[in-house]
This record gives sequence, C-alpha cells and structure tokens, in this order.
Amino acid sequence: MADWQIVIFGGTGNLTFLKLLPALQALWLTSPGGNGPAVLALGRREYDDHSYRERARVEAGIDDPRFLAQIGYQRLDFAADQDYLDLAGRLDTRPRLYYLATSPEFFSTIAARLRQAGLVRDEDRVIFEKPFGRDLASATEINQAVTRTFREENVYRIDHYLGKEMVQNIMILRFTNRIFESVWQNHDVEDVQLLVKEKEGIGDRGGYYDEAGALRDMVQSHLLQMLSLVAMARPVRFATEFIRDEKVKVLRDIRIEEPTRDLVFGQYQGYLEESRVPPGSITETYVALRLAIENHRWRGVPFYLVTGKALDERRAEIIIRFKCQAEYRPENAVSNLLIIKIQPEEGVAFRINVKQPGAESQVMSESMEYCHSCKFALKSVGAYEKLLGDALLGDKTLFTRWDELEYSWRVVDEILAAKARLHLPVHGYPRHSRGPAAATELLPPGGVQWLPRVARADRRD
Ligand code: BG6
Repeated sequence: MADWQIVIFGGTGNLTFLKLLPALQALWLTSPGGNGPAVLALGRREYDDHSYRERARVEAGIDDPRFLAQIGYQRLDFAADQDYLDLAGRLDTRPRLYYLATSPEFFSTIAARLRQAGLVRDEDRVIFEKPFGRDLASATEINQAVTRTFREENVYRIDHYLGKEMVQNIMILRFTNRIFESVWQNHDVEDVQLLVKEKEGIGDRGGYYDEAGALRDMVQSHLLQMLSLVAMARPVRFATEFIRDEKVKVLRDIRIEEPTRDLVFGQYQGYLEESRVPPGSITETYVALRLAIENHRWRGVPFYLVTGKALDERRAEIIIRFKCQAEYRPENAVSNLLIIKIQPEEGVAFRINVKQPGAESQVMSESMEYCHSCKFALKSVGAYEKLLGDALLGDKTLFTRWDELEYSWRVVDEILAAKARLHLPVHGYPRHSRGPAAATELLPPGGVQWLPRVARADRRD
C-alpha cells in the first residue's frame, strides 16, 4: 500500500475530515513498517501544505507526525484546465487512487478534465461517493462519463455500510450456519425488517439533503444494499462477481405492490427552519416502505425498510421474524426473531421461547445474545478504513457494481414517481419521536418501531 498516492477531490469537505483522513491514518498505522500511502487533498480554498496539515490535526485528529508529513494540499477549481496542469506537477510515478468526495454533479467534469490532462493511467483507480446521481438517468450519465476515463475494473463505487462489521457478517451468519440457511425463505420467514434510525437532524447539510431526501440519501444505497445481502441466494462461489450477480437478481425482483398502502413518508417538525431548506419543501426525512421480492424464495414475505432523521434514537438493525409455530402455540409463545445489530451495538440476538421456572409449564421468551462490539472493540476496523484498504488491495467485493446501482435507482425512481403521481402525504412528526403515526398502520404489530418494548416484554405478536 505504501506505493500509492491518494488524491482527494473535496479535500476541505466534511467527509474528508470526519472519515477519510482518520481512516487513512489508521491504515497508515497498521501498514507493514508503518509506511502507508501518501495523500494529496484538493480543494478550492487557499491552504498550503502546512496550514492544511494544521487543520487536519485539529479537525480530523491526525496526530501521527509521520502520517501528517505525508499529507499535501493543492488548490484546484474542478472546472479550471490550468489547475489540472498544476496538479500534474504534484503527482509522481506511483499508482494513484482518486477519491471523489464531492457532490455528484462534479463527477463528470472532474473525470473529463483528468482524462484531458492525461492524468489517468491504466493502473489508476477511482472511488466515488454516493448518491451517484439523483435518478437512474443522471446516474447513467455519470457512469458513462466516469467509464470513459477509468477502466471499469478500476472504478470503486463506495457504500460505507458495506464496510460495517455486522453488514459484512450477514453472509457469514447466513451461509456458515446451517440452522439459518435452511429456514431462510418464505415457508419459514414471516417478514424482514431493515431499520436505520438516526437521532440527528440534517444539521448544516440542507443544500444537499433537500435535493436528496431519505430515499436517495439512505434507501437507494445503504438499505437496498443490506436488503440484497439478506435476500440473495447462495452464490455459486464466494467470489466478488458471483456475489454481485446474486445481489443484482434480488434488486431486479423488488416490487411495490400497493403504493398507497406500502409507502409512508415523514418530515420532522422544524425541518423547514433548517438552513438552506426552501420554504414549503416536501422532501421526506423519514420513510417506511413495504417491499416485495417477486421470486420463488421470497414471494409473500414483506420486507419493511424504515429510516429517518431526528428520531428517538440512533439504531440500525436487521430483524428476521420467523413464523410462529402453528401446531403448538401456548400462551405467551412468540415468534423467533433473529436480530442483526449493526449500530451502535454490534452483535446478534436470537429470541426463543423457553419454560418459565416453576411447577407450571408457562412459556416466556428470552434472548440469546452475542455482542460483537464488546468482544472485539479493539480489533474492529472502521468502515472507511476497511473499504479504503480493500480498494488499495484491488478487492471489489464490498463495492457496488453498476447494475446494482441501476436496479436500486429503478426502485427509488418508482417510489418517487408514485409519491408525485398519487400526491402521497408527507406526515409531520415531532423531533426525537419514533416517526409519523401513519407508519404504524404499515409496519407489523410488534415491528420495527416498537422493538425496544417487544424485545423486553414477552408479548405475543
Ligand atoms: C450517509 C448519509 O451516507 O450515511 C447521511 O448521507 C447519514 O445522511 C449517514 O447520516 C449515516 O451513516 P452512519 O454510518 O452514521 O450510520
């Protein structure tokens, strides 16, 4: 890894300071001989190497002097030809990993300018940040512009959820535990719930967020990626392209059965007062969706996707709810739940029925817990560190292929079109609540919204 030069477009943005530089420092520290790749940050603001390093030290917590010394800064206006010629002067013969941490509207310009300036060689790679367009049409355009400059095998479309420990764990859990593999289908599964709740509002990202909304910001990428890992069939081989092939099939088979029943949108109260949100915006900050997967394995099993900002807690989980035992179902018996906890706690919980202590045969439900974060807190690798490391090693398993994006955009485009065509309401919900009340009609009883209570109480559902 030492012989790479990482060139970050958007070098003065949030993502760079919050995620990329800390991840690169971590990679640096774990590289053999403590010798990782060099970093060149690009941005429109006036810094020199020294003042940029100082900002990186303060804002990104970069405290390793050897790594700091490897960081450089170059002023660059995305559209200015001359700036690319100046950039050439800062590049050397090492292979380059370009990281486009900018808004997607600049991707095409940057890719074209890099090509015209002759700054992309056969071995150079590029990483793109989501949302990679605002619909299928714009994503296709960007993709064409990018692949005119970079060879497809050198294009890394990043979704940081795929780098999270417990998202990587989905396949291990499914395919190495026979007990789960055989029941992973519509005969045994009642429903699947994918939940990403955030406590924070949109902060100062109003300009970006109002154009995106929860569907483009979270569903098109993170939630649909997780869904595809949960629902895909066992790949013929556990190798990158075989896994991607199976994920694509799931994304292709997603259907929305009854838009008026299956799509609930919300906006937190106070959203319209956030900076750079236009008056009267109906952008959704919350969605609850019921999706169907039209294939043999999943026909009849609803997949509930829920995500929102300014909710009561920060929590991401995948819940597989199994059917209740039909023939013998004593009072208090509940359905088995397999909960994959993604954050803040990482782990797996499995809810089972057991006998209450005492002379009578009363049933109660208990949870068998595995806490990944408690056990491996020190060994756990951050999502960006994992993905940047993989990109340098050339492993694309945790990056999305173009057709995965294509089918995800189809789903999101269809939902957005239904929202507009049917004038589906965007329900207000109080900050730090569980979301709009309308979602409770969609979600299963004892489902995602109310899980904290369900998990503790032994209610029957
Ligand atoms: C990003 C979204 O991709 O993911 C943000 O743009 C969101 O709006 C973030 O807050 C959530 O990531 P995490 O890792 O904090 O759950």
